[in-house]
Amino acid sequence: MQKLEIQGGIAVDGDVLISGAKNAVLPILAATILAETPMTVRNVPRLKDVRTLAQVLEGMGITVETDAENNISTDTSTLNSCRAPYDLVRTMRASILVLGPLVARYGEAEVSLPGGCAIGSRPVNLHIAGLEAMGAEVTVQEGYIRAKASRLKGATITMDLVSVTGTENLLMAAVLAEGTTCIENAAREPEVTDLANCLIKMGAKIKGVGTDTLIIEGVEKLQGCDYSVLPDRIETGTYLAAAAITGGRVRTLNVDVNSLDAVLNKFTEAGALIKKGDDWIELDMRGRMLKAVDIRTDPYPAFPTDMQAQFMAMNTVSQGIGVVVETIFENRMMHVPELARMGANIRLEGNTAIVAGMPEIYGAQVMATDLRASACLVLAGLAAKGKTTVDRIYHTDRGYEKIEEKLSAIGANVVRVS
Ligand code: EPZ
Repeated sequence: MQKLEIQGGIAVDGDVLISGAKNAVLPILAATILAETPMTVRNVPRLKDVRTLAQVLEGMGITVETDAENNISTDTSTLNSCRAPYDLVRTMRASILVLGPLVARYGEAEVSLPGGCAIGSRPVNLHIAGLEAMGAEVTVQEGYIRAKASRLKGATITMDLVSVTGTENLLMAAVLAEGTTCIENAAREPEVTDLANCLIKMGAKIKGVGTDTLIIEGVEKLQGCDYSVLPDRIETGTYLAAAAITGGRVRTLNVDVNSLDAVLNKFTEAGALIKKGDDWIELDMRGRMLKAVDIRTDPYPAFPTDMQAQFMAMNTVSQGIGVVVETIFENRMMHVPELARMGANIRLEGNTAIVAGMPEIYGAQVMATDLRASACLVLAGLAAKGKTTVDRIYHTDRGYEKIEEKLSAIGANVVRVS
């Protein structure tokens, strides 16, 4: 089990090159299943989750090649199975994203139920209901989703609630369906838009991209294309938070400056100075007081749940009281008891955390429970007095490429130990 050892109290200062978005590259790799001809995905982050999805594709016989820059090329002409096995899907829930494309192109799919994870039960009922609305026969037995359809038919699907991968799965199912599909109450996250843009480059006909109503005109076939994935807005927000919590300055490079307005507004409310260029965002907290902010997570374009834990860490060392409400997942507050071990003053009432900022928090041994909780604990460690050891950082490696290298490059004292 690897750990990160962090000596806190250093104000970070420097530039961070942001990697491609994990939550865009995963659906786009799944979308390569739809391509009649080879395709290449660029700006792919070096993350465990990406390697897992590549293994799922290889497990179906798809040829997957990765070059020195970590660009991934796929060729579906060698596909010989439509099955995504339990041992892979259980390690990475987003493998469910192969379900829609498989049924759309091959008329069948056998995908293990992802099961829950630390942050919630994470059902996939909306994915299944949407496929059934398009005419698929779906059974769930022995822990597997089995779907069959001679050819999916366009339908109007109203999502009961906003689901990112639910929208993505149904979008990928609809692009080859017969006729028109309308997805209402669709997720508007930038990663959904990136997938739609990739599908359009492959020959799909999609209207309403970026809105909560997607209208898809089914086509017969899609061709491979060369697509570069958008930068990761959550990684961007996490490194900006490192500057905010340590009273330093960070300029994030190669970012999508229009994908995190709600987060930038909250950084400004917390007292930070934000500057933006065409493809960079800088946060300067030098000589400024970190103020507590209230956070309520909601679907895009509102404040993202994937930045909730990071702002919770900031609130623990801010001036004032910040109230953090998590509305998306039922169990995404597991970083709270770990922060309390560092001296944070947090009262938890269900999915609402009342955080009273302290003048100081202290290094401690803490344990990561999920991806963004691990980012939160690293941020708290950067601000804490003394040494913090974050255990189970395999969670961190799922979503942050080379985190200790990127943090060390801006002056933080972070080392990975086994
Ligand atoms: C995506 O998860 C992201 N993962 C998550 O990022 C992110 O936190 C989440 O969207 C919300 O933005 C990927 O894109 C790979 P949802 P997803 O379906 O699609 C309920 C990270 O840290 N729901 O939008 O699984 C669900 O339980 C990860 O990078 C149903 O009830 O989330 C949740 O309460 C964590 N039935 C809510 O909807 C369904 O069929 C939103 O979930 C589907 C979802």
